[in-house]
Formats: sequence, structure tokens, C-alpha cells
Amino acid sequence: MLETFQITKNFGATRALDGIDFSARPGEIHALVGQNGAGKSTLVKIVSGALRPDAGKVRLDGHTVQIGNPHHALRLGISIVHQHSGLVPGLTVAENIFLGRMPTTKMGLVDWERLRLEATALLGRLDFQVDPNRLAESLDAASQQVIEIARALSISARVLILDEPSAVLGTSELERLFDILRKLRAEGKAIVFVSHRLREVFEICDRATVLRDGRSVGTYVLGETVDAAYLIRKMIGQGWEDRATRPANAIGHELLRVEKLSRTGAFEDVNLNIRSGEIVGLAGLVGSGRTDICKAIFGAMTFDRGGIFVKGRPVRIRDPIDAVKRGIAFLPKDRHGESLILSLPLGWNVTLPVLERFTSGGILNSRREGRHVDSLVGRMGVRATGPHQPAFSLSGGNQQKVALAKWLGTQASIFLLDEPTAGVDVAAKSQIHELVRDLARSGAAVLLSSSEIPEILAMSSRILVMNKGRVAGRLEAESVTEQDVLRLAT
Ligand SMILES: Nc1ncnc2c1ncn2[C@@H]1O[C@H](COP(=O)(O)OP(=O)(O)OP(=O)(O)O)[C@@H](O)[C@H]1O
Ligand SMILES: [Mg+2]
Repeated sequence: MLETFQITKNFGATRALDGIDFSARPGEIHALVGQNGAGKSTLVKIVSGALRPDAGKVRLDGHTVQIGNPHHALRLGISIVHQHSGLVPGLTVAENIFLGRMPTTKMGLVDWERLRLEATALLGRLDFQVDPNRLAESLDAASQQVIEIARALSISARVLILDEPSAVLGTSELERLFDILRKLRAEGKAIVFVSHRLREVFEICDRATVLRDGRSVGTYVLGETVDAAYLIRKMIGQGWEDRATRPANAIGHELLRVEKLSRTGAFEDVNLNIRSGEIVGLAGLVGSGRTDICKAIFGAMTFDRGGIFVKGRPVRIRDPIDAVKRGIAFLPKDRHGESLILSLPLGWNVTLPVLERFTSGGILNSRREGRHVDSLVGRMGVRATGPHQPAFSLSGGNQQKVALAKWLGTQASIFLLDEPTAGVDVAAKSQIHELVRDLARSGAAVLLSSSEIPEILAMSSRILVMNKGRVAGRLEAESVTEQDVLRLAT
């Protein structure tokens, strides 16, 4: 149904795609996998009209098509959910879903009632409860992603492309999404699914195409001979193993304690404490309050009641700057909106919280700053042309690495990490896991908030499970299973 021939795309000196042949058949879910920066997003942007290729052809049903822009792609029946939200902030949820195709009354006016009802029905299909009249900008990244998926589904496209839809979705939304994708597959649509989560790829996809360094390594029918280990070898060109071992660190004194923290409508009576050397997992569905708790501790959100103690002493954290001074670092999950300044070079993003250290008398010592950036970027294995590359032009996973690198360069001893591995590839993920373990080993206190239960289980020594803003349970990681966590979370 959808084919590409010898697609090539350069960004300046970077060859993002180099002669890609790809094809998706009707009635299949086709995975597109590869390491961060392999070219997945670039390829799907080309077939959905957001980018023009430098060379090569796209064919739809055997006919060559010149896709001029995203609207054109939509008219051809190609619909995409991008890796990062493309919602219009000032419009409501319903308006965003039906942008450009609002239902109208006989008089030709927008039929607001029908708009609301249809939006509610679509969101219901995804098992997602949100007021369709809410402004898109008031939603968190995960919810915005759900709205985008609803929008893509509302266009009865023949080719549906999802660029990492699962990175920010919770378990129940994911299950719903998969049910819908299976139904669309049965209806004969071609679905392209970009993901780093191989478990999901094997659960839902029929074939997978592996990209490596802008080239296609091959297309494989998923099954017994092609398993996750096989795909990973194709992706990185060598064998690889996740050494997921639970940390057994020397546990020191308490670094962070939170008592009865409450914010009406967000979270209620949350108690937690983390000692030096500990990684405490914060599990729970999307919307269970995990993100808000991190923000409240970091001074980025107010709370109504309760107290925060750093090293046993009560503190009043007025704002994030105050939090950083007290040694608290926060990695938000919405790296696009909150953790990076996309227009700035990646190097500047890394030094931003510690710029003072490289400045004397108002003058920046750029050589020392450069060394600082190089060492962190090297440690994280960020793939970029250099420290001058603007953050927006990095691939999604590399942006996440830069966001984390930024905090590793500070003197923080308390790390609040919200979905630290969302959107990063398997190898980078284990690197990040190793770094987080290193942090704990060197005496930091880590709060690891994640919607991926296996990640929480592998990393934490204790687990708090959130459910609708409350701590639904506390588990010692030793003997816990995924089911135990899920039962408390739902
Ligand atoms: N606008 C741009 N300007 C410059 N370089 C870019 C731009 N967009 C992408 N690139 C580069 O092209 C390469 C491929 O990026 P792409 O976003 O397609 O990777 P990806 O496979 O989607 O990775 P991820 O898994 O991290 O999302 C990367 O090296 C990236 O830095
Ligand atoms: Mg991408």
C-alpha cells in the first residue's frame, strides 16, 4: 500500500537517510525500529508530507505520489501521530481533534454540540476521560499525545503512522490503543508503528524494518526465529544484554522526606522518604499524580498542605531555583516543553544550570565550559554533530540524554526523574539505567517515576504505587511482580 524507493535525506552534513526502501502492506502493523538518531522520525515525516526527500520516491497503491505537505498527505489517506505533540495550544481538545473538519449545522455554522459529542465518543474509544472543552495547553504531554491519537483515528486514513505513541502512555490507554490498532489492521489498513519498546513491538506488530545510521538493515517477519535479541543485534550491529540488577548499595541517612503532601485535585497525603544510596520507584498510571508530586517537591507547583524535609530539616522551596540550590534536580517527562530550550545549542542546554561555575567577572570561560559539555555529552553517548547543534534538531532520544546530562553536571544529591527513559533506544536505556545506579552508588537519593513497571522493578529497592493521587501501596522490591504493582495501580 505504501512504499518508498531509495529515499535519501540530508540535514546539512548529516545524512539522516541513505537510500531507504520500505513497504507497508494493507492489513499489517509494521514496526520501524532502530537506535536513537537512526532516521525513523525522518522517514515517517517524509511519507507524511512534513519533510521533502532529497532523492527517492514514495508510492501509494503502486502510484508515485509527490507529497507536498501534511494536508496533502491527509487527503491521500496518510495520517500520523508525531513523536512530539503538534496540538494547537489555544484550542480546546475537541477543536484540536476536528481541526479543519469541524462538523457543521445546516446553517453552515460549527455544530458545537456534535463536536463535543463526537470528541467524547472518540476519546471514549481510547478509554480516556478528559473534558473536550478543555484547552489543549492545559494538558500534560501524555494527555496531549492521547488527543493526537484520537485525531489520527478520527480521520479514516488508510495508512496510519504512530511515532512512539507509547512513550508517554499508561497501561490502560496502551491496551485500548492496541485493541484499536488490531481492529484497524483487520479492516485492511496499513499501520506503521515506531517504538523502542520491543515488548510492544512483539505484542502487536507483524513485521519490522530495522534502520541503522540512516540505512535499512532489513525487514523481518516477527516470530520465533526473529526475537528481540535478534532485532537488537540488527539495530546495533552487535550483541547486547541488559544487566538489570537491583542495586544493593550502602544506604545512608535520609536525604528527602515528604510528609502528608496534598494538593486538592492532584494528590493527597503523600508520605515518602529516600535515603542516600536509594532508588525509590514511583509507579502508577499516567495521571495518577506522579508528575505533580515531583513538580511540587521541585517548587514548580504549589501544594496546599504538608511538608518537605531535606536532610532532616524542614524546607520551604519557593521555586525551582531554590530547589536547585538545595541540591534537588528534576528531569521532567515533557522534555520538549519543560526540560530543554530547543532553539539553543545542546552545549548551552547542558551548562545552563551551572553557568556560574564557568563565569568570573561576568566573563564566560568557554574552554572550561566546552570541556564540561564534552565530558557529559561523551558520558551519555549523545549522538550529535557537536555542542553547537541546536537541541531541536537532535533525535528524540538524544534530546532526553542531553536533558539528563544537564543535571549530572550539577552538585545535586536528590534526583527526581520522571520517565527518564521515555523514547530512548535499548542500548541508551541501559546506559541511563547504569548512570542512575551510579548516582545512587555515589550517595544520591533517586525518585524514579515511571509508567513502565518492569523498569521500576529492575531499578528500585522500594516502590510506591500511586492511584488517583494517593499512595495505594508500598512494596519492597524483592518479591514483587508486575501484577502486584498493577493491582494497586488500577
Ligand atoms: N531538523 C534537523 N536538522 C538537523 N539534523 C536533523 C534534523 N532532524 C533530524 N536530524 C538528524 O537526523 C538524524 C535522524 O534523526 P531522527 O529524528 O530521524 O532519528 P530517530 O530514529 O527518530 O531517533 P529517536 O529514536 O531518537 O527518535 C539524527 O542524526 C538527527 O540529529
Ligand atoms: Mg524519532
